[in-house]
Amino acid sequence: MTIRIILVGLGARAQFWMRVIRDNPDCTIVGMIDPSEAARERAKAQWPEAVASADLSIIAQIEADAVLLSTPPGGREAQMEAACRAKLPILAEKPLADDVALAARYVAMAEEAGVPLMVGLNFRFLDVTQRTFRLFAEDVGQPEFGRFTYERWRDGRLARLNKYPLTMDQPMLWEQSIHHFDLMRYVYRAEPVEIYAKTFNPSWSMYADDANVSALITFDNGVIVNYQGLWQSGWQEPGFTWRHDCTGGVVMQGDQFGQLSFARHGDAQLTPVGLPPYEQWYHDAVAVLAAFVAALKGEAELKCSGRDHLSSLRMIEAAILSSTEGRAVRCAELDTVPRVGAAQTPASAGS
Ligand SMILES: NC(=O)c1ccc[n+]([C@@H]2O[C@H](COP(=O)([O-])OP(=O)(O)OC[C@H]3O[C@@H](n4cnc5c(N)ncnc54)[C@H](O)[C@@H]3O)[C@@H](O)[C@H]2O)c1
Repeated sequence: MTIRIILVGLGARAQFWMRVIRDNPDCTIVGMIDPSEAARERAKAQWPEAVASADLSIIAQIEADAVLLSTPPGGREAQMEAACRAKLPILAEKPLADDVALAARYVAMAEEAGVPLMVGLNFRFLDVTQRTFRLFAEDVGQPEFGRFTYERWRDGRLARLNKYPLTMDQPMLWEQSIHHFDLMRYVYRAEPVEIYAKTFNPSWSMYADDANVSALITFDNGVIVNYQGLWQSGWQEPGFTWRHDCTGGVVMQGDQFGQLSFARHGDAQLTPVGLPPYEQWYHDAVAVLAAFVAALKGEAELKCSGRDHLSSLRMIEAAILSSTEGRAVRCAELDTVPRVGAAQTPASAGS
């Protein structure tokens, strides 16, 4: 059975999806939708056999098995409605929405339509992430606190990058920290209980709203994380460190895609951990698509469900509230906003 996909949004990220779908023998693209003529022309040159349209109505008109949303997170209402009306499973790029209440409505909409909804949280699927679990289990014991730093001077004007983050509210949190917060929940197998955050924009920022975030996050299993996420650091060279301090040592991740090492408490040096070769942004997307296909074929449970994603989005909401009010926010406070059904347990949350 070939999964016939309608790709909605033909921008920067869709370039990866087109290649990843081409390389997956179980999948093909039958429809491509984007209001931009230039984007459609480019996609048509790469995938001439698919129908290209500016209009979402082709979702109801062509024979398809799934919809992949690679659009900006703001303004997906009509896309979600069209996919749900056509009863087509949805793979949506993160974040599902730029508003938690709206994301919750999408999740409810998909559930009411009986449509699987997966969010493309590619970093969960990396070997470096999966190998970290084994280090905890076999080498250094369980983590009790961590330090997560992501340092980047992101040139949002580069032709190959999307432009909407330049003008959106809280671009770092919604576009980038969402990956980091999701990884924390996933790797620590825990839910956040308190977030004390400060978002800010340095004088040299090219972003209209805050491009930098500092936060102290406490999880329900006691893990405490010092987080700093920068889209406008003072240096063009990127940096990444995720250090986990564990009962019997430390785990260090030196790159967002790899560079894993560990040390037991008394070791003088870190021991590097070998990881299989990988291509950034490609192999992780390959794994996301394979997981989506396995779920559609009934071979595996759906991973990274929309409902699970709501818990990561709530961390963004808590961080914004904390920064606005200048105080630590208990995540339970956000529960005054009614949740749509019960949250997924971390154990069933991901890959
Ligand atoms: N998982 C990852 O690692 C990763 C990496 C990059 C981007 N993303 C995500 O992918 C999504 C798209 O990002 P991008 O970089 O491709 O942005 P982009 O701006 O380059 O492309 C978005 C495209 O969507 C089109 N579009 C806008 N509204 C539309 C609509 N209503 N219907 C159809 N098309 C519409 C735009 O014309 C544009 O061509 C975002 O959610 C982003 O966060 C994820």
